[in-house]
Amino acid sequence: MGSKTGELQADYDRQSEVKAFDDTKAGVKGLVDSGITKIPRIFIDQDFVLEKPSDSSNSQLSVPTMDLQAIKEDSTRRAELIKQVESACADWGFFQVINHGIPASVLDEMIDGIRKFHEQDTEIKKGFYTRDPSRKVLYLSNYDLFKSKAANWRDSLGCVMVCDNPLQPADLPQVCRDIVMDYTKQVMTLSFTLLELLSEALGVNPGCLKDMGCADLMFLMGHYYPPCPQPELTMATTNHKDSNIITVLLQDQMGGLQVLHQNQWVDVPCRPGALVVNVGDLLQLISNDKFKSVNHRVLAKRTGPRISVACFLRMSENGSRLYGPIKDLLSENNPPIYRDILIKDYLSEYYSKGLDGTGGLPNFKL
Ligand code: OGA
Ligand code: NI
Repeated sequence: MGSKTGELQADYDRQSEVKAFDDTKAGVKGLVDSGITKIPRIFIDQDFVLEKPSDSSNSQLSVPTMDLQAIKEDSTRRAELIKQVESACADWGFFQVINHGIPASVLDEMIDGIRKFHEQDTEIKKGFYTRDPSRKVLYLSNYDLFKSKAANWRDSLGCVMVCDNPLQPADLPQVCRDIVMDYTKQVMTLSFTLLELLSEALGVNPGCLKDMGCADLMFLMGHYYPPCPQPELTMATTNHKDSNIITVLLQDQMGGLQVLHQNQWVDVPCRPGALVVNVGDLLQLISNDKFKSVNHRVLAKRTGPRISVACFLRMSENGSRLYGPIKDLLSENNPPIYRDILIKDYLSEYYSKGLDGTGGLPNFKL
């Protein structure tokens, strides 16, 4: 009884401290700008502090790289690549892509645009601060701030770029408007190529994933990870799985992203010009566990900022279409693992809790 009261007391304090932080509308960057040398306790992650050293990064393993050069003209090369994509998605749930067709200058400008957004005058930035899910442009710190056990050392700019009612360019912050439009258009083209490769890697026709609506929605998150005075106490991004079909991630040269592979955290190296692609829960669902939605996290660092731009692709949550394992993949030896579900039910399950590493699929298993 005593400890329960203690916990509730701690929860109460936490909620009001979390709210006070949210009310500043200045994010983690605002804390750093104010010159703090100790992180506020709402950011302290006990699970991370207590983690065994054996869980730390293993450098023997490395995330596979896919070279997309010449895959349109050279059918032998394409067939090889599809095999590589198949094993990367089954073993790692993560790969890097090079020669993907998006110029390095566009990647650099995109990172720079997100930096400019977060580093502009705080008063202008505050105008975008919101947790209203109906807004198309949301600047916030920690979307799960009021649900998570520990807040992450990051701020984000979220933009709904593609859906039945996407944002208008004028809705975007002026400092990054043009590059966000240009970059997302190019990521969309790349995503169609990736969905074709993934379809073929699953053994279904190349248009299958696109026709299922797997790229009907694109949500962009421009993350800003300020330098952290006590990186041993908090996470930049807590261990989690993504809630979508695929994520196309652009990261700068600071490092810190790790993927869980064979029970060990493996660094995802910063490779200039490369993009990171990872499988989300919804691809795991429709592939009937052939492709894995894998745990990943970002370590906080004393140096920074680190900037990354994640483009999340998935089906729309509107409408009554049910999604489950693709019927053509199922057989007596491969019975369905999940029931058919509404995307909105999956999303409300995923977002009902803070990031905790379990994803949103377990409750939908047959
Ligand atoms: C995410 C994510 C990694 C990064 O936004 O889901 O995993 O490097 N981001 O910011
Ligand atoms: Ni992620």
